[in-house]
Amino acid sequence: MNDFEEMASVGGKICPIGQATVPAIDRGFLYGDSVYEVFRIVDGVALFLEDHLQRLANSASLVHMDISDSRDQLLSQIRATIKATRAQPTRQLFIRLQVSRGVGPIDLYPPAGIESLTVILVKELPTFKEQLYSVGIRLSVSKVRRNPSDALDPNIKGGNYLNNILAITQVRNEVGVDDAILVTSDGVITEASNSNAWFVIGGKLLTPVRGNLRGITKRHIHRAVEIAGQTSDEADLHIDLIRDASECFLSSTTRGIMPCSELTLEDGTMLNFPAGGGEMTRLTQKAFAEYTRSYIANNPQNTLLC
Ligand SMILES: Cc1ncc(COP(=O)(O)O)c(C=O)c1O
Repeated sequence: MNDFEEMASVGGKICPIGQATVPAIDRGFLYGDSVYEVFRIVDGVALFLEDHLQRLANSASLVHMDISDSRDQLLSQIRATIKATRAQPTRQLFIRLQVSRGVGPIDLYPPAGIESLTVILVKELPTFKEQLYSVGIRLSVSKVRRNPSDALDPNIKGGNYLNNILAITQVRNEVGVDDAILVTSDGVITEASNSNAWFVIGGKLLTPVRGNLRGITKRHIHRAVEIAGQTSDEADLHIDLIRDASECFLSSTTRGIMPCSELTLEDGTMLNFPAGGGEMTRLTQKAFAEYTRSYIANNPQNTLLC
């Protein structure tokens, strides 16, 4: 019998996810003034937990936010929320850990001494349509430009995704593809709406060095590829270079490595890539799957579900 139930914790109070609420004057709700992480639980182990906790702390520091809960308090709230779902240890879980700056007067400047509010959402890991892996995701360069990094640092993983929402909405509505590639006003590729983008150009595996979130999947893909005896690199990738790409894929915590089957450029040119991923994409998927298996086996201290 499947008695799993999606659960939430708001300020340490646990309830079914559909009943979780935050105050209407919470700054995360009013201004997107929050930071968050999403990570996966595989075989009870939180994948790359340390990286996610460090990135949360870094995002908070970039927005000058003090997180009121200690690391131990955050972890014990996560454990308690997972426990309340009655998940079996074999389930793959999705954890969203969001920290809002908290409740305060309706005023942009954050008041001193404000208490942050931790919200934890625990669901089963979303499954993507099988076709997105067997064939690939369809992408288009969006007309919506990436907001400049000196206006909003892309390494703030924060609760305001309007730039990305506008980009994915434009390409879905106007081009009819699945996701957007965002470029800067100078035509440099940054990332997709919620994942990092990779290209094989001249036989080299490359991902943009600037203008994107330093993805944790991206970081570990680099390591996995190196262990497998291959090479990968980060560079400024101008959109004109992409015309010579032979493969493309996306990476993120929830997608893993998802091949791209086509990329439409702004002038309407469609670049086609091998269905199900070319040789380098498949090699990278294999290397990353082995790397992940070994991480889970070697990091029992990250067990959040027992
Ligand atoms: C804008 C953006 N870029 C990249 C990523 C991929 O990051 P990660 O591999 O840490 O999930 C995400 C994931 O949420 C994202 O939102």
